[in-house]
Amino acid sequence: MLIETHGADIYSAAEKAGIKENNIIDFSSNINPLGMPESVKVAAVNSIAYSDRYPDINSRELIRGISKFENVPESWIFAANGAAEAIYRIVFCLKPKKGLVTAPAFSEYENALNMIGAQVEYYNLREESDFKIQDDILEHINFDTDIVFICNPNNPTGQLTDMEMTEKVIDSCRQAGSAVAVDECFLDFVKNKEEYSSVKFLGKYDNLIVLKAFTKIYAIPGIRLGYCISSNEQIVEKLKMSGPPWNVSSIAQASGITALKEKDYIDRTVEYIIEQRKYLIKELNRLNIKTYNSCANYILFKIQYSLDLKDEMLKKGILIRSCSNYKNLGENYYRIAVKTSEQNQIIIKALKEVIGG
Ligand SMILES: Cc1ncc(COP(=O)(O)O)c(C=O)c1O
Repeated sequence: MLIETHGADIYSAAEKAGIKENNIIDFSSNINPLGMPESVKVAAVNSIAYSDRYPDINSRELIRGISKFENVPESWIFAANGAAEAIYRIVFCLKPKKGLVTAPAFSEYENALNMIGAQVEYYNLREESDFKIQDDILEHINFDTDIVFICNPNNPTGQLTDMEMTEKVIDSCRQAGSAVAVDECFLDFVKNKEEYSSVKFLGKYDNLIVLKAFTKIYAIPGIRLGYCISSNEQIVEKLKMSGPPWNVSSIAQASGITALKEKDYIDRTVEYIIEQRKYLIKELNRLNIKTYNSCANYILFKIQYSLDLKDEMLKKGILIRSCSNYKNLGENYYRIAVKTSEQNQIIIKALKEVIGG
């Protein structure tokens, strides 16, 4: 049986459409449109020469780099084979009986909780409040809650949770004896990200774990690299012991060490995303498509018609993310990534042909 996933699966899409993967433009995964920095590519290729030995089991040089980058002690960091691995390790090592997730949100929190038989409670994000977390989330946090997952900015809505709200959640969780995992995998695409990041709360709250990814901002999803940070060193130690050793390959470690030096690349990316997101939203609205306020490198939208837009777009070699399987969204919701100017013009042209306008 093949694993089914809802985004980034150009391989299944290619099989279905009878075309080659390379001929599909993937708007279903949200990867930096500027691509992998050249320096990272070189580091990855050079690391092949010493891939005949095991990688550093402790990812020492990478952890030193992350520590400087995030301005946190090395002992607070756990390096993972992508942020997805970190999500599963968090669940495996904390063994929550009950977890609270927002809905709609990235499905792997729920999948990981389901895998260990934990009960999943949903905090419903409401369209009329722009899918923003409201104070009533605090009513869902009590002594039965073992972990809360917050995605900031949220996937698939692109909505940010402000610092005050996040701290209220972390503080309520501390009082209830629960952990909080704040997933900031897309925060690197946001302007003034420090204003929203929970990294500043580490040290103050030992129930907090912040999740980060290299995969999206440095465009290395195929290499796989992420990390999490917690000032609770017992959690960090448990994370290390909650899965197989050598989880981060030599190629991933070398790529990450080099990527952390690419500061200008992040600034350029943020500006590019703002400009291109504006273009896409304007054009989608011109087509009478309702868009939701996104601060990230992807856009959630809703069409007025009953039409399998994903299928129709695939016929044109474009893969988009249907959001029909997200709780609190439905058949007419879709998500697209903000890609290069040229690719964004291609998708708008294709949408015009499919929807009319
Ligand atoms: C919100 C969010 N967190 C984590 C991940 C997993 O990222 P990675 O590819 O680094 O495992 C994804 C992947 O799409 C995501 O959307």
